Amino acid sequence: MPDQPALLSYPDPPLTDGTVMLRRWAESDIGCVEEASRDPHIPEGTTVPARFTTADGLAWIERQWGRADNGEGLSLAIADAGSDNALGAVVLMFRRQPGIAEIGYWLVERARGRRLASRAVALVARWALTDAPLARVEALVEPENIASQRVLESVGFQREGHLRSYLVFNERRADAFIYSLLPGDLT
Ligand SMILES: CC(C)(COP(=O)(O)OP(=O)(O)OC[C@H]1O[C@@H](n2cnc3c(N)ncnc32)[C@H](O)[C@@H]1OP(=O)(O)O)[C@@H](O)C(=O)NCCC(=O)NCCS
Repeated sequence: MPDQPALLSYPDPPLTDGTVMLRRWAESDIGCVEEASRDPHIPEGTTVPARFTTADGLAWIERQWGRADNGEGLSLAIADAGSDNALGAVVLMFRRQPGIAEIGYWLVERARGRRLASRAVALVARWALTDAPLARVEALVEPENIASQRVLESVGFQREGHLRSYLVFNERRADAFIYSLLPGDLT
């Protein structure tokens, strides 16, 4: 059985497919965090501040650096490979079980509809299962979030079940579909 990593280090060189590049967050990405805070779906499911201030935006970026430094996982900016503009986030967070991380992702609204999330999830999931190496990457998605399910299925994630009243948001609970990707699912 391979050793399971206690820490995830930033991929070096950064992961890219020529269209998106996944890289460490920078303070200059604050505009992306501000855009994300204006989208009602992103602050609800993440720690992106719902009411943006520069201080809160910078604190969010510092928390992303902390994911790797504290051994919580890894948070990468999804950037346009040409301009280096940050368009979203893809995050791996360790679960309690060894060798397992949950993946989360979002794009600012203007970057959606171009399959950029599928590209980012494919890059980071493949890296996590082959280079990191993790044994399993899992994802929790609300049944109504069809775009997110399509992203996962396009990468090869398999739906394993329907978890009732599993997700907790500020003012509501929600069901979740649980998906996973194992090394053998990579094509
Ligand atoms: C989920 C998200 C990352 C998808 O990113 P994206 O790159 O814009 O995804 P795409 O536009 O390429 O859509 C992916 C698929 O979903 C489909 N889709 C998109 N919106 C849809 C909708 N409202 N209803 C049904 N299908 C939809 C697309 O047609 C595409 O399908 P295809 O690959 O078979 O053509 C983006 O919508 C987002 O950031 N949402 C808010 C945060 C979020 O929900 N994160 C995931 C939490 S689990």
